Amino acid sequence: MPKIIGLVESLKLIPAGKIIDGMKAEKIGLVDTCIPEGYVKEQLPQFIGKILAGKVKPQRRSSWMEKFPPTRAYIFKKTKEQIEKNAKGHYPAPVKAVEVIEKTYGGDLVAGLKLEREEFAKLAVTDLSKNLIQVFFTSEALKKDSGVKSKTEPKEVKNAALLGAGVMGGGIAWAFSNKDIPIRMKDINWDAIGLGYKHIAEIWQGLKKIGKARDGDIDNKMNKVSSALDYSGFDHADVVVEAIVENMDVKHKILAETEKHIAADTILASNTSSLSITKLSAPLAKPERFIGMHFFNPVNRMPLVEVIPGEKTDDKTIATIFALSKKLGKTPIRVGDCAGFLVNRILLPYMNEAVLMLEENASIEHVDKVMYKFGLPMGPFTLADEVGIDVCYKVAKILKDAYGERVKLSELLRVIYEDKKLLGKKAGKGFYIHDGKDKKLNPEVAGTGANHLPDAEIVDRCILIMVNEAAMCLEEGIIEKPEYLDMAMIMGTGFPPFRGGLCRYADAVGIGAVVARLKEFEARYGARFKPAVLLVKMVASNEKFYR
Ligand code: NAI
Repeated sequence: MPKIIGLVESLKLIPAGKIIDGMKAEKIGLVDTCIPEGYVKEQLPQFIGKILAGKVKPQRRSSWMEKFPPTRAYIFKKTKEQIEKNAKGHYPAPVKAVEVIEKTYGGDLVAGLKLEREEFAKLAVTDLSKNLIQVFFTSEALKKDSGVKSKTEPKEVKNAALLGAGVMGGGIAWAFSNKDIPIRMKDINWDAIGLGYKHIAEIWQGLKKIGKARDGDIDNKMNKVSSALDYSGFDHADVVVEAIVENMDVKHKILAETEKHIAADTILASNTSSLSITKLSAPLAKPERFIGMHFFNPVNRMPLVEVIPGEKTDDKTIATIFALSKKLGKTPIRVGDCAGFLVNRILLPYMNEAVLMLEENASIEHVDKVMYKFGLPMGPFTLADEVGIDVCYKVAKILKDAYGERVKLSELLRVIYEDKKLLGKKAGKGFYIHDGKDKKLNPEVAGTGANHLPDAEIVDRCILIMVNEAAMCLEEGIIEKPEYLDMAMIMGTGFPPFRGGLCRYADAVGIGAVVARLKEFEARYGARFKPAVLLVKMVASNEKFYR
């Protein structure tokens, strides 16, 4: 590729494994021509004629920068810096690819290919490479998953409506309008609707800044969003998404009311993050068309949608929400109707565990640093501040109420939320004090940090408590298979893909070692670390999550 299109363009594509379309390939000189599919019959013979007449010369492009050794060295240096910034030391292949090009560029082709082969072979056999290959296969499998075992055709969604124009509602309206599905947004007053529009506009402005949206398109898409304080327009919606306050009674009332204003086959989907879908459907005349469609915050960036059928939800509804999620550019994963569903049920024990460490006087910054080094996008305290301490506390409490004794809710988390009223980044203060882009420790909660836990203990307490919960989810059939669970955690929480996911990580550690460590923690810290039945069984039968 560097021989054909030059260094600058190839270094944009090779390390990132970037996929480009035919038009772009033609523009950068990677292909000689690009013919739109509809014109192939007509234009291909002409093009072949040109080749035979010697009018198409092999392309060789390069920029002036690569011709001089100092500027060429500069290109390589900048590329490697950029890769390191993105890969954070976890992904060796892109750096290696650039090194190979640097060593071989302009030299003998056969020798260059030999070096490339040797370096490729070393990387291809690593666990990291296999983890990434597995992640790729799982995402391909998920693309084909219709959500149901039966051959049910999904309903085409041409129009949508939305209840609640808040944080999630705004993001959801953006996602529909972005894919040209008109959406009617309903809230209780015009101020709330105004905030919804503001949120959508902010997402577009962010995209425009990075060159991913243009004014004309933005106007077009914004026009797909309409609004009302009543149910006008709901009668021709194929799907209604509910994203109002997280309160069972309010949702019951609004869902039952909504049902009176929609067509007989309109699907009603709730974006609840914690309430049981079966219980939410209680007042509905047609619970079979009701379902959970759990987006993650921020909707425009998070690729996962948990699809949660209730006891009575029918296959048509499930298949439609699966197809719709894909149309919105998301990856739907079917999960069972339990407290926290899948991702929050697994993630919250981890965040709670971090606060329990803080109760033992561990250092917030140290714990955050260790988990970041493990590969998570951010440490648990930074994450809690981002998500909102109120949200964390409420979900943790829901899990405590549902799973009882085996959950030890951090008292400090309660104090921070209820007594100190710290909410995290959105209010400027949480575990850290947030000032624009800067953050420093909040002395109100930080403690002395005198208890310096070893890095390995921090990682094991944080990760193995999630592995244990993951095993319980599989045992209860909350999710179909470990591959899907791993993908849900990667897409819903940013769990590092190079580790392949939680189950894959547990396999690499060894299930025997995981159970031994859990037992050690159980003895030291209590019942929350009691190994899941599935894990104990797996040790007895020498099984792994992945075959
Ligand atoms: P929010 O408080 O930002 O927005 C709720 C909106 O619903 C407000 O604009 C409110 O005026 C409106 N509303 C209240 N009653 C209404 C009614 N009767 N009719 C129409 N609109 C009404 O809340 P947020 O964070 O957007 O959450 C909404 C739902 O999404 C909740 O069920 C929540 O659990 C869920 N969720 C929240 C996530 C988050 O990170 N914030 C993540 C995933 C799900």
